[in-house]
Amino acid sequence: MNERPILMFDSGVGGLTVLREARVLMPDRRFVYVADDAGFPYGAWEENALRARIVSLFARLIEEHDPEIAVIACNTASTVVMADLRAAFPNTPFVGTVPAIKPAAERTRSGLVSVLATPGTVKRQYTRDLIREWATKCHVRLVGSDRLAQLSETYMREGFVDEEAVRTEIAPCFVEQDGKRTDIVVLACTHYPFLVNRMRKTAPWPVDWLDPAEAIARRALSLLRPARPLVREGADKPDLVVFTSDRADTAMVKLARGFGLAPAAK
Ligand code: DGL
Repeated sequence: MNERPILMFDSGVGGLTVLREARVLMPDRRFVYVADDAGFPYGAWEENALRARIVSLFARLIEEHDPEIAVIACNTASTVVMADLRAAFPNTPFVGTVPAIKPAAERTRSGLVSVLATPGTVKRQYTRDLIREWATKCHVRLVGSDRLAQLSETYMREGFVDEEAVRTEIAPCFVEQDGKRTDIVVLACTHYPFLVNRMRKTAPWPVDWLDPAEAIARRALSLLRPARPLVREGADKPDLVVFTSDRADTAMVKLARGFGLAPAAK
């Protein structure tokens, strides 16, 4: 029996939005969820420093957990580090998360699309190249939010969300131009789907909020060798959560437990 887990990586709670989809598609697999909470938030990191940090974290993670595949459930990291990870760890297949600009460009009716992301993701050449490649016929507004990832962390740990702050952060996504309005907002940070109901509530008009979690989970599934149906691999081992800091408080541990994740031994 192959007990190698799927490793899921983010700076914090955001990757849990991908984990929840992955569990639906791969109920027979074991997961190790890694929150680089010592590095959170990634949005403000300089590219080279972030790249070096993540590659060095993975050297340890791969050695300790020997994953069958690794999912970088974070746009801010994926837009800079995928090539480096693949080069450094050629035996591990990696799945990345990139802003869903292509599906948004295919679906928009008004031609006005906004991409809501961390300041890091909106700055990346990778994001700009995606727009040039797939969305030249649309008007794409890039909106970098300084606060939404943290608001989402607070919401998930404490159950509290400052709706006025959400309203302010999403407001620049809504564009009216030549009698047309933005009709799609790409959620290009995995933390944001946790706040989507608050976003719907505080938005000036209804739009489609594109969450790429299911597409990422499908991609991960496509890279796995087939498992025997209904036999959970490594059934005797629990899904784990790894925090990179020693600061993970009880609220965080409780949240992880709610997602069926047991703290990994240090
Ligand atoms: N969840 C991450 C993303 O998808 C970023 C959050 C952060 O660390 O700022 O971009």
